[in-house]
Amino acid sequence: MPSSKTPESYTLRSKINTQERFIVAHRGSSGTAPENTLSSILHAISAGALMVEVDVQITSDDKAVLMHDQVLGRTTNGKGFVRAHTLEQLDTLDAGSWFNTSFKGEHIPLLSDALQLLKDNETCVNIEIKPPGKDDDGIERLLVIIENVLALNMQDVTLFSSFHHESLRYIKQHYPAFHTAGIHLPGDRRLPSEIASEIGCEGFVCSLREITHKKAEDAAKHDILIGVYTINTDDDFNTIMKYQVPALVSNFPRKIQQLLHSTIK
Ligand code: G3P
Ligand code: MG
Repeated sequence: MPSSKTPESYTLRSKINTQERFIVAHRGSSGTAPENTLSSILHAISAGALMVEVDVQITSDDKAVLMHDQVLGRTTNGKGFVRAHTLEQLDTLDAGSWFNTSFKGEHIPLLSDALQLLKDNETCVNIEIKPPGKDDDGIERLLVIIENVLALNMQDVTLFSSFHHESLRYIKQHYPAFHTAGIHLPGDRRLPSEIASEIGCEGFVCSLREITHKKAEDAAKHDILIGVYTINTDDDFNTIMKYQVPALVSNFPRKIQQLLHSTIK
C-alpha cells in the first residue's frame, strides 16, 4: 500500500541482512512479462523478489526510461535509437506485444514511475548503468538517473551496477553514500575485492559462467555483496547453490523463490 513514510526496515542493508540468499528480478520478471515494463516489475514484486534490476536509456528530451537496448526494434514496435525520440513519441509505442499479445499496449515506463511502484511496495532496485556510447561521456545520463533516485529519496534502497566501472567511480566520488556494484568484465582476472578497492563499490556481479569459489569466497571475506546472473533453470539453481552467493539474479523470480523456499524447509 502506498505510504509517504519510509520504514526503517526499507533499506538495502536491512533487507539484505534478513536473508542468506535472495532474488533479484532481472529486467523485472522478464521470463513471465515483457522485460523492463511495469508488468514485469509487478510480477517480480508479487513473486517476492527483494530487488528488481532494470536497465535505463535516456530520451531526446532527457527523460530516463526503462529499456535494455539503445534501439527500439527488439522490444517495441518502434525503430531507431531511444536517444532520437522524445518521451511523447516513445509513449505511442507498444512494448508488450513482442513478448506476448496479452501484453499489447504496455508502455515503455519512465524510470520515475518504476521507482515509485517499487517504493510503494518496499522493494529495492538495482539500476544498471549502461556504458556510454560514442561521443558521450555518460555523465549527463548518470545525472538524470541520479536525480530520479534522489527525487524519491530512494538512495538507501538503490544499488547502481555497471560494466562501465568509471560510472560507478564517478557515483562514489560525488555521492559516497550510494551503493554500487561492479559487473565483471570479460577477461578481467581481478577478484571482487581488487575491483572494490579500485572503484569503491560494495557489490560485485558476474554471470553463472564466470562464478568461481575463489571469487565468491573473496567477496564473502571482504563483505562484498555478490550476485550472479541469470539463474533461470533447476540446473542453474543447483549450480549456484554450491557457491556462497547471496543474490540470485533471475528472469523467473517466482520459480527461483519457490526453489529457495523448498531448500529451507
Ligand atoms: O546485472 C546483470 C545483467 O543485467 C547484465 O547484463 O545485458 O542483462 O543488462 P544485461
Ligand atoms: Mg541489466
